[in-house]
Amino acid sequence: MTKAAVQSSSAPAVAAFLLVAKKARFSPFVLLSLLFMLLFSFLYGEQLATLIGQRDRPHSSELDVNLSAGGHQQPAETEAGWTSKKKPWQGRLPFAVNEEDEDEECDVFSGSWVKDEAAHPLYREEECPYIPPQLTCQAQGRPDRGYQSWRWQPHDCTLPAFNATQMLETLRDKRMMFVGDSLNRGQFTSMVCLLQSAIPSPEARSFEASPDQQHTVFTARDYNATVEFYWAPFLLQSNADDAVLHKISDRTVRNGSIAHHGRHWEGADVLVFNTYLWWCSGLRFRIMNGPIEEAKEEEMVWVSTEEAYGMAFRDMLQWVRDNMDFNSTRVFFTSMSPTHGKGQDWGDAPGGNCYNETAMIEDAEYWGTDSRRSVMRVIREILDGDGADVPVTFLNITQLSMYRKDAHTSIYKKQWNPLTPEQIADPRTYADCVHWCLPGLQDTWNELLYTKLFYP
Ligand SMILES: *[C@@H]1O[C@H](CO)[C@@H](O)[C@H](O)[C@H]1NC(C)=O
Ligand SMILES: *[C@@H]1O[C@H](CO)[C@@H](O)[C@H](O)[C@H]1NC(C)=O
Ligand SMILES: *[C@@H]1O[C@H](CO)[C@@H](O)[C@H](O)[C@H]1NC(C)=O
Ligand SMILES: *[C@@H]1O[C@H](CO)[C@@H](O)[C@H](O)[C@H]1NC(C)=O
Ligand SMILES: *[C@@H]1O[C@H](CO)[C@@H](O)[C@H](O)[C@H]1NC(C)=O
Ligand SMILES: *[C@@H]1O[C@H](CO)[C@@H](O)[C@H](O)[C@H]1NC(C)=O
Ligand SMILES: *[C@@H]1O[C@H](CO)[C@@H](O)[C@H](O)[C@H]1NC(C)=O
Repeated sequence: MTKAAVQSSSAPAVAAFLLVAKKARFSPFVLLSLLFMLLFSFLYGEQLATLIGQRDRPHSSELDVNLSAGGHQQPAETEAGWTSKKKPWQGRLPFAVNEEDEDEECDVFSGSWVKDEAAHPLYREEECPYIPPQLTCQAQGRPDRGYQSWRWQPHDCTLPAFNATQMLETLRDKRMMFVGDSLNRGQFTSMVCLLQSAIPSPEARSFEASPDQQHTVFTARDYNATVEFYWAPFLLQSNADDAVLHKISDRTVRNGSIAHHGRHWEGADVLVFNTYLWWCSGLRFRIMNGPIEEAKEEEMVWVSTEEAYGMAFRDMLQWVRDNMDFNSTRVFFTSMSPTHGKGQDWGDAPGGNCYNETAMIEDAEYWGTDSRRSVMRVIREILDGDGADVPVTFLNITQLSMYRKDAHTSIYKKQWNPLTPEQIADPRTYADCVHWCLPGLQDTWNELLYTKLFYP
């Protein structure tokens, strides 16, 4: 990062890593400002970083949308706990290499895409044996590969290059776990591909899934490090928890069931959560206040999707409070992955979708009608409000992915069965405009994760 949060480092282990970092000398003016800000942050109970970072961050009311457009209900502002603000966690985040008193902050999620054929893709599709055929677009016949060669350029800094060796050293004797749905599985796979390029010997690594496919573990033997994926599309217990057979239309989650899956996350040093798309089955969502299997009518409650989502998000935070030591472990949350199923959103003829799209959307303000801003707002309000005491690093990949209508797997995928010739001939119906080709967009998500791990 040239002009980023990266200025100096005292940790010797990472000194080599910070080739680009300049040693910052603190002028009396900078020291004075820092003292002032410390006082200010003390008075207002604000985290210093939040305070400095607020410059560019839109006020949460700016996230308001035309809710009638998506037809979503506005979550009740008066709901208990909704507006209460907790004191942010004050400690130093583990793995951070930037100075605690960093005087510059960069919003790495605000920027633009730059063509970069020299450095991207970061690995080749055929070199990573762990990509499932659902995401190997080239092997499935995609004719173009321009979607692989883009670099994310934040407005105010440059991302550090992903150094797989550095990442593996950091994960030595540790476990990194991705928890969520198939999009998080894609990000997990991308991370494994990024790391395995630094482990040439096949004997030095392994990749194993549990018999029910719920839990997949990549091991870097020489580092005693694992990168894992755990299927829990709602984080809570749900009727879509079977990692293979989960095509369910009447979705439901069990209230207060975070420990059901949570017990399998214990011991992870870095957790990366996501959950979003599965909630979007309608405007309302069904909650069970009893066992899912019994599905008793009197134990079902219908609430707005946003309220249900907020409930699960808060339960996840509570699990994190109860089970993670913030001095030694880190928690990430990846924001919603946009879909491109409606070509009309970007001026295409009715019926079009991501199929045959090889260029990205240029409009910096673009937002697809099939993505719910209301859900983003729920996350932001909780993280800034009653969840502020949990140091979750928010990976805000939504807007930067919103531009990438070119990066989906479309019809170039194989899941369970290859698409039939009839399906391939009808891309308007069968194109997958949800998942992303690998290598591709999700490698950038991991470059951002990497950045935020070391420069939170
Ligand atoms: C909200 O969206 C609806 C449906 O798309 C549209 O008719 C209406 O004009 C929009 N309202 C505003 C204030 O943008
Ligand atoms: C996510 O990033 C985009 C682009 O910088 C920004 O417009 C948006 O407000 C951010 N959302 C949240 C919830 O932080
Ligand atoms: C990557 O990290 C390793 C371990 O910290 C370091 O030795 C190496 O020089 C780094 N590579 C680059 C290209 O920065
Ligand atoms: C390997 O890593 C695990 C944590 O993932 C740790 O409990 C164990 O002690 C490590 N083994 C060795 C030999 O260091
Ligand atoms: C979920 O459970 C909590 C605690 O038992 C209860 O207060 C809340 O009303 C329940 N939520 C729903 C939607 O039923
Ligand atoms: C975390 O570190 C701080 C400061 O070093 C210390 O006061 C606190 O007790 C630690 N918390 C835990 C759970 O170890
Ligand atoms: C795909 O796009 C190209 C130009 O961008 C166009 O010529 C071609 O007809 C399109 N193919 C289909 C099947 O829509």
